[in-house]
Amino acid sequence: MSLNISSLSISAGEVKLVVDGELSCERGERVALVGESGSGKSLTGLSVLKLLPENLNIEGKIEVDGTEVLKLEGEELRRFRWEKVAMVFQDPSSSLNPLMTVGEQVAEALIYHGFKGSKEELKEKVVELFKMAQIPEAEKRINAYPHHLSGGLKQRVAIAMALACSPNYLIADEPTTALDVTVQKRILELLKELSKKRKMGTVLITHDMAVVEEFAERVFVMYSGFTVESGSKEEIFRKPLHPYTEGLIASSPKLTGIAKRRLPAIPGNVPEPSNRPEGCPFHPRCPKVKEVCRRELPPAVKIENRTVRCFFPNY
Ligand SMILES: Nc1ncnc2c1ncn2[C@@H]1O[C@H](COP(=O)(O)OP(=O)(O)OP(=O)(O)O)[C@@H](O)[C@H]1O
Ligand SMILES: [Mg+2]
Repeated sequence: MSLNISSLSISAGEVKLVVDGELSCERGERVALVGESGSGKSLTGLSVLKLLPENLNIEGKIEVDGTEVLKLEGEELRRFRWEKVAMVFQDPSSSLNPLMTVGEQVAEALIYHGFKGSKEELKEKVVELFKMAQIPEAEKRINAYPHHLSGGLKQRVAIAMALACSPNYLIADEPTTALDVTVQKRILELLKELSKKRKMGTVLITHDMAVVEEFAERVFVMYSGFTVESGSKEEIFRKPLHPYTEGLIASSPKLTGIAKRRLPAIPGNVPEPSNRPEGCPFHPRCPKVKEVCRRELPPAVKIENRTVRCFFPNY
C-alpha cells in the first residue's frame, strides 16, 4: 500500500511549472518534500488530490493504493479526497471559513462525507477529533471562530479536519512555517504520533532542512520543477549526493549551529519556470558546475536505494 508519483509534469500553457516530479510514501511512513520557494512543492501536493487550479495541465502517473488518481472524476473523486488522501493547506486561515465556528466546519466536513449519527453524536465526534489534534479545552474551542484562535490552534483545527475521514495519507503543506519554534515542535510531534497510531502515510512539505531532520524518515528534494534527489533521511544528511541538497543543509543555521549570517547560503535564486536555464536547472548556482552541466539535462540515476539528478554526484 503506497502513494506513488512518477513523471509528473504540470504546465501553464507552454510553461512547465513541474517538469519531472517523483515521490513515494508508504502507509505509516513519514516523508518530506523539501526545496526553496517556487520549486513546485505545493503544485505536486495539490495534484495528488486533483486540486490544481483550472489553468494548469497535468500529465504523469499518480497512484494511491492502486487507484489511478488522474482518472478519477465526479463522485469517485469526491470520496477519494479526504477519505483516502487529506491535505493541510499552506495557509491555514485560507482553508477556514471566517464566518463559521471551527466546530461547525469540522461537522460540515463529516456530514459531507456521509456521517449519519444524531446531532449529539456529531458533536461528540467533532470533540473527539479536536482532542486527537490535541486542542486544549476541546468542548469549549469547538464554538470559537477562526480569528479567536492562535496560528498554532488554527493549524490544529486544520489537522482535525483533515483527520475527519480517517485518510490513509496526509499531505501537510508547510504546516509549521508561520509558527514559533516551540509550537512548531509540538505540531511536528503531533503529526508523527498520528502517522504512527493511524498508520497514515504523511508527506510534509517544507523549505526547512531542520524540519526535515526532525520529522522525516525519507526525503525528496525538489528544485525548479524537478525531483533532484531522494533517499532515507540518514543517508541524505550523512552524505547528500546533489550539490543542491548539500547547500540546503549547509545553509540551515539550526543544523549547523552557526549563526545565519555566517552560513554559506546558496547564491542566486530559483529560476522562474518560464526562464529555466539550459542544461541542469541548478547549474548557474552550482559550486561544482562543469561544461556539460550548461548544455545537457542530467538524467535521474539510481544509486542503491537513492536517486539523484546530477552528472557529478558526491560519491
Ligand atoms: N496557477 C498557476 N499559474 C501559473 N503559475 C503558477 C500557478 N501556480 C503556481 N505557479 C508557479 O509554479 C511554480 C511552483 O509553484 P509552487 O506553489 O508549487 O511552489 P512551492 O515550491 O510550493 O513554493 P513555496 O515554498 O513558495 O510555497 C512557481 O513558479 C509559481 O509561481
Ligand atoms: Mg508552496
